[in-house]
Amino acid sequence: MESLDNIAMLAPSIEPNFKKKFWKFLSRWYGENGFKYPWRKSPTPYSVLVSEFMLQQTQAETVVPYFLAWMEKFPDWESLAKAQEKEVLRAWEGLGYYSRARNLHRIAVMLYHERKGELPSDPEELMKFPGIGPYTANAVASLAFGRKTPALDGNVIRVMARLMNINQPIHKKETIRTIFQVVDSLMQGEAEASLFNSALMDFGRAVCKPKYPRCFACVLKEMCKAKQPELLPLRTKIEIEEKKEKIAIIREDDRFWLQQANSNQNRYRGLWLFPYFDPDVMEEKAPLFFLRHSFTRYKILLEVCEASWNKERLKMMPIEGQWVKKKEIFSLPLPSPHRKIWLQLLSKDETNKGP
Ligand code: ADE
Repeated sequence: MESLDNIAMLAPSIEPNFKKKFWKFLSRWYGENGFKYPWRKSPTPYSVLVSEFMLQQTQAETVVPYFLAWMEKFPDWESLAKAQEKEVLRAWEGLGYYSRARNLHRIAVMLYHERKGELPSDPEELMKFPGIGPYTANAVASLAFGRKTPALDGNVIRVMARLMNINQPIHKKETIRTIFQVVDSLMQGEAEASLFNSALMDFGRAVCKPKYPRCFACVLKEMCKAKQPELLPLRTKIEIEEKKEKIAIIREDDRFWLQQANSNQNRYRGLWLFPYFDPDVMEEKAPLFFLRHSFTRYKILLEVCEASWNKERLKMMPIEGQWVKKKEIFSLPLPSPHRKIWLQLLSKDETNKGP
């Protein structure tokens, strides 16, 4: 295994022959096996940024239908800049991590009003926009503008840690800096920048897989320095925490009590939610069902119950929210667990109606 000092020496020591072979094997593999994602068809700075925002915390296969629907609804900066936040959040619904949608919307407004819809191509400039970190900046610079700059997503980091047998933990800045330098010295010119980064991402996803690397099918096998690839890259384990939350369904005829999250700190800001059960002002009428969902390092068990207001208490402790008609709920943006609750409620209503 390499020590960090040795790794720092890796980048300059990549021989021209190694570099040439690497690209020969990788580009041939990509030509035959690369994924035909829709954002690769005719990339523009806009479509690349949309896809990169969607891909930040979501698997590529999941993103595909969202990306296609989004490009139909908001084909360019102008249409997105002119949209209401409510519509934007509704189109994002199901992808989660809504700050991405809000940031994309903000960028569209900024570009449309201040920069004639032109996104800068320089990664440093790109990072000044909300929601654009080093990875996204470099991905956009290379995929949309052909800048020769490494885009280190999780797949690329894994391929490189294995190829060079780097056994330093990847939460360390120095490790990432070294991997950046290695990729930089392996990269070809600007003409291949987009191909190069896309090929590495796909190769990591399809061949150099996290748990079960497909070394038997690997075209880089003879160049790979990893002894036990499945153990790389090194990362610190994240503790998963289990949580329970209780949600109240308060209804009167065809109206439901919903709250719009409006605090800046709330990850669901702008979205509509069924309220948390609050025993100070609510009374439970009947248990309904359970739902599970995960968020970052939390595994959450949602208990959903039917409840009513304790009106006397409510006078003393008013709660924000409003009655919303059933048919209006369909067009409101709801975070995915609440949309699931809503769909379950509807199907229960249908079943109870009888044939
Ligand atoms: N993951 C992040 N960006 C990607 C891209 N442009 N193509 C495929 N997977 C990705």
